[in-house]
This record gives sequence, C-alpha cells and structure tokens, in this order.
Amino acid sequence: MSGSVITGWGTALPEKVVTNAEFEARLDTTDEWIVERTGIRERRFGGMTSSLAVEAGAAAVTKAGLEPSDIDLLILSTTTPDKAVPATSSTVHAQLGCSGAAFDLNAACAGYVYALVTADAMLGARIGFERALVIGADTLSVITDMEDRGTAVLFGDGAGAVVLEHHEDAEPLMLASDLGLDGSLLPILYCEHGGYLKMEGKEVFRKAVRVTVDSAAKVLADAELTGDRIALFVPHQANVRIIDAMLQRLGIPPERAALVLDRTGNTSSASIPLALSDAADAGRLSDGDLILFSGFGAGMTWASAVVRWGR
Ligand SMILES: CC(C)(COP(=O)(O)OP(=O)(O)OC[C@H]1O[C@@H](n2cnc3c(N)ncnc32)[C@H](O)[C@@H]1OP(=O)(O)O)[C@@H](O)C(=O)NCCC(=O)NCCS
Repeated sequence: MSGSVITGWGTALPEKVVTNAEFEARLDTTDEWIVERTGIRERRFGGMTSSLAVEAGAAAVTKAGLEPSDIDLLILSTTTPDKAVPATSSTVHAQLGCSGAAFDLNAACAGYVYALVTADAMLGARIGFERALVIGADTLSVITDMEDRGTAVLFGDGAGAVVLEHHEDAEPLMLASDLGLDGSLLPILYCEHGGYLKMEGKEVFRKAVRVTVDSAAKVLADAELTGDRIALFVPHQANVRIIDAMLQRLGIPPERAALVLDRTGNTSSASIPLALSDAADAGRLSDGDLILFSGFGAGMTWASAVVRWGR
C-alpha cells in the first residue's frame, strides 16, 4: 500500500478589495441583486497569475516544512496564463526555485481537480516524482468586460496551492475520481484570444447543477459512500445557489460546505484550493476526514474526487 498525502497548503489574494457597492456606483446593478443571485459580497482584483501562484506555492511549501527545491513536480492549473509561450509554470518554477518538471493545465474552473488527480496519479505511477506542488491561479479580471453587468460582478483574482508527498506506507489519497467534458457546450462560456468572457449565465447555471451533481454522485457511489459521510464539501465557488442545490441533492449537511465565495467571487482554478485552505486554517479538518471536491467550468468541463485528509 502506498499513496500521497496533502502536507501543506497556502493561498494568495491581491490587496485590492472590490465591493458590490463599487459596481452599484457605475453599472445597472445593486448589492442586493448580487448577494441574492450569487452570494458574492466582494472580490479581489490585481496581480499576475504567476505572482499570485508564486505566493500561494511558497506558502504551501513552507507549511509542508519543505524547501521549493524539494518539489520535483509542479502543476499549475490556470486559464489566464501570463503569456502564450512559455507556460506560466516556467515562471513559477524559476521564481520559487523548484526542481524537476512543470507544466500548465487548462480545464477552466474544473482545472484544479483535474490537476490534483493528475498529480496524485503521477506520484503513484512511480516514474520519478516524490513531491508535487499543485497550484490553481487565475486573474479573471483581465478577461472580464467590466462594463457587462452579467459577468463583471462574478469574477475575482487569486491563487491557492497544496503540496502532495508520496509515502510508501500511506493509504491512497483518492477514494474515487471522475473527470469529464461535454465539448458541445463550448458556446455557452468562452473567451477568444484578446477578448472578454462571453457567457449565457442561465444556461451555464442549469448545466452546471446537472453535471456537477451527476459527477459528485458518481464518485460517492464509486467510493461506496453517502453524502453524510463527507466531512468537508469543497465545491467550485461560482454561485451559492449552485452550491446549495448540490448540497441538497447529494445529502450533505449544509454546514459541511467550505465557502469563500462571498469574499473572493469566482476565482476559477483558485477557488477550490482557496476554500480548502480556508477550512484547513479554521481547524475544520482532522486526519482521516473525507473531502469531496467538485468543480465545473468552460468546455464544459467537470471534475469530482473523494480525498482522504491526513495519513
Ligand atoms: C449569472 C447569474 C448570476 C444570473 O442569475 P439568474 O438568476 O440566472 O439571472 P438571469 O440570467 O435569469 O437574469 C435575470 C435578469 O437579471 C439581469 N442581470 C444580470 N446581471 C445582473 C446584475 N449584475 N445586476 C442586475 N441584474 C442583472 C439580466 O440581465 C436579466 O434581466 P432581463 O430579465 O431583463 O433580461 C446566474 O445565471 C449564474 O450564476 N450562472 C452561472 C454562472 C457561472 O457559474 N459562471 C462561471 C462558470 S465556471
């Protein structure tokens, strides 16, 4: 028996706080509408994807009691890379001083769960990797049209990261995982090079509830679990009404959800590690607890995993 263990976690948020009142002042919207329809009260704007990723990655490595040079696999989940070439993970790798391999992964807002599953599989394959740094970082403010009330109020910038270490005597990290995509749904959420995000909000909402509930229900069934066995539910932070629908349909007690959406908005790849870190820092996790991760995003992608916390 061998497996990987989450040994560190960390986050980064830009300093600039943007409240709903700031949108109310210049768009045809209200704080009341935004809070009621999305659950978002404020978000952060600023930084670059690489700078946020470096800050979150450094914090996670320190928390794990490691040096960056101990990391031999770096996966950066992002949909807003600094440059077209090279991958932003190259910048992050150099600035942190990591060893070994690094690459970017883009599965939109489901990317962080895709990256966790990939890192765990690569450590488990015993192909030369011992310690992975899995970062989710995005600067969606760069690709959001700040004049479009339908999208401007939803997104924010940030980063979150975890360290995974392989141990010969650990139980498997993942009890079950599910990664998927329906490419026919591309037209409901996309961004052209040099353009802004285009979204059919209502359609994304409807499809997101369906695909995430199906995917999360599948991993629970594969792991032979029911929702009440989940100690912490870490959903993609896009809309509190989507999260509430998932909790209800999966039979997970609402107080088990990790939520940062009210303070961060939708930070894409960063949302799941931001919520996980917030819960871990608040002492909400104990060794052996089962965590359900579930994300969805443009593509339309989805990803769920049941993960064991600690050893
Ligand atoms: C975008 C979203 C919050 C809109 O909420 P909704 O309840 O579905 O609202 P609708 O789309 O039905 O729009 C209702 C009205 O509110 C308006 N509206 C949209 N944004 C608004 C805003 N910021 N303030 C006030 N009104 C707004 C719409 O224009 C529409 O007006 P109309 O009826 O005159 O056309 C919601 O659909 C959503 O969260 N979708 C998923 C988005 C998502 O998760 N994206 C990221 C995927 S990773």
